[in-house]
Amino acid sequence: MGFPTNLLLANLVMLAGFAHSFNFWRLPCRNRIAAARIDPIMAPGETCDHMHTIFGSGGFSDNVTQDDLLDANCTSCAVTQDKSAYWTPPLMFVYSNGSTTMVNQDGGMLAYYFVYGEDPQPFPESFRMMAGDQFLRNFTGPVPDPPTSEWTDADKTQFSLSQKAIGFNCLHYNTTNEDSLYRHTMPEKDFLDENCWDGLRIELMFPSCWNGVDVDSPDHKSHMAYPDLVKDGKCPEGFNTRLVSLFYETKYDTQDFRGVEGQFVLSTGDPTGCGYHGDFIQGWEPDFLQEAMNGCTNPSGEVSDCPLFTDNADASTCQIALPEALVDENPFFNLHGLLGDVPIQSGPEQATPYGFLLPAPTSPGLPVPAGGIIGSLGDVVSGVVTGLAAPVPSEAPSDGRIQAAQVPSTTCASKQALPTGVSRDADDCEVVIVRETAVVEVGNDGVPITTLAPVGSTTTSTKIVAMPMNNLKREQFSTPGEMSSLRRMHNRHLHNRH
Ligand SMILES: *[C@@H]1O[C@H](CO)[C@@H](O)[C@H](O)[C@H]1NC(C)=O
Ligand SMILES: *[C@@H]1O[C@H](CO)[C@@H](O)[C@H](O)[C@H]1NC(C)=O
Ligand SMILES: *[C@@H]1O[C@H](CO)[C@@H](O)[C@H](O)[C@H]1NC(C)=O
Ligand SMILES: *[C@@H]1O[C@H](CO)[C@@H](O)[C@H](O)[C@H]1NC(C)=O
Ligand SMILES: *[C@@H]1O[C@H](CO)[C@@H](O)[C@H](O)[C@H]1NC(C)=O
Repeated sequence: MGFPTNLLLANLVMLAGFAHSFNFWRLPCRNRIAAARIDPIMAPGETCDHMHTIFGSGGFSDNVTQDDLLDANCTSCAVTQDKSAYWTPPLMFVYSNGSTTMVNQDGGMLAYYFVYGEDPQPFPESFRMMAGDQFLRNFTGPVPDPPTSEWTDADKTQFSLSQKAIGFNCLHYNTTNEDSLYRHTMPEKDFLDENCWDGLRIELMFPSCWNGVDVDSPDHKSHMAYPDLVKDGKCPEGFNTRLVSLFYETKYDTQDFRGVEGQFVLSTGDPTGCGYHGDFIQGWEPDFLQEAMNGCTNPSGEVSDCPLFTDNADASTCQIALPEALVDENPFFNLHGLLGDVPIQSGPEQATPYGFLLPAPTSPGLPVPAGGIIGSLGDVVSGVVTGLAAPVPSEAPSDGRIQAAQVPSTTCASKQALPTGVSRDADDCEVVIVRETAVVEVGNDGVPITTLAPVGSTTTSTKIVAMPMNNLKREQFSTPGEMSSLRRMHNRHLHNRH
């Protein structure tokens, strides 16, 4: 289905510098089970800040366990013995008018399983991990990578290895393709238009050295480490258990936007690609993965060439039901900005957390983060306004406070079209968190301040008089997800005050 399998394999073998052969297979997951703001690893039981394209077990949910995955009656991947879950942020296109659309994902995704290294083990029970850092916005190594034989200690730090584990492969099948993991940043749109006739393949190598103990960790990464050549090589001290190696490939039809004005970004608002990441929860039938690692010896890597695998006839029909908060969200097209109001942050500095990802405020006087909670009732803070201000509601409640729900969703949603260069009244005012990225300020008289600080400007002594979050009405938000994220922020706010 458009994947130049022989080429890719040659690339991988070359890159890894293999003289000997190793078992591997390429697991096609042709259909998504969902595209939604769900991430059971990073945001269990909640709405995730950004959207993912999700493959694998029909048991997937925002708070899924391995047992749920295994109990499901279907998977969207090609073999019935695998009910794992695989997900990444998809590639989006931002039109010059601010609308966004998901770039068609050609052929779903492929999950490669490589049996590299010494005595590799299958994923342990309940194993989960993520790779990549959604806030990263720069690549710090030399471009292109020096040959692996010349890698210095600086090339082999875990940070450096994790950056080199991300690839953007410009596809042009009528000429020689780039090696896998050749470029680690997203090519410019002009370059994609002109050169990548067959689209863009986004790649991610997961770490394969395990600490031998933890099946997960607080950051979902530190129980794992990269071997010193990314794909293969030596495992670092303390991560001596080699696991089967996992590599994701997703291919996007960027040519659909050839000549169209706009930019490509990940659903995390990342135009650089450096913040690409992926998640995995193990859902292989007990003992089966080890059998496949030993028994799938056909060098083609085709799952159909390994007699152990049972072909999954239901792959194309497997879907999950979305949580209620997300059923009205359209992952494929959003009129104003990215789904979840994810701000586009181009770096090179680390992206700023937004929405519920914000660190909890610890003291008054913090910078005002993008749409985040900036303090408690009565706190006085000053700092940089990074949130985008929505046009103000036409009426304020009689008690002088503003209800978040009174800001019509249309005005919240039009924040992309904010005027620049507006200034705000520096007097005391109320600050109301309206949505994850919108801040509305209201004067003490209850009248909304109509001129607001431009993004990036410094406020002076903004008094937070109230954070009224009561009486939120679903119909006043364009999506239920917005309301639930508001509630969550509010709860966290209350929690932090006690
Ligand atoms: C997630 O599921 C576990 C186990 O079913 C449950 O104990 C926990 O409360 C759930 N968490 C959330 C945030 O829903
Ligand atoms: C799996 O279960 C769901 C819900 O019960 C059902 O709608 C679906 O048809 C089943 N799929 C398969 C492949 O049996
Ligand atoms: C922006 O342009 C796209 C593509 O032409 C269109 O579908 C969308 O409706 C436009 N959005 C706005 C806000 O006009
Ligand atoms: C490959 O295909 C592209 C797009 O069809 C074309 O522009 C280019 O000239 C071709 N290159 C070669 C070497 O055939
Ligand atoms: C590159 O990213 C790192 C990690 O996010 C950050 O610490 C560093 O400051 C960034 N470099 C630049 C030039 O902003």
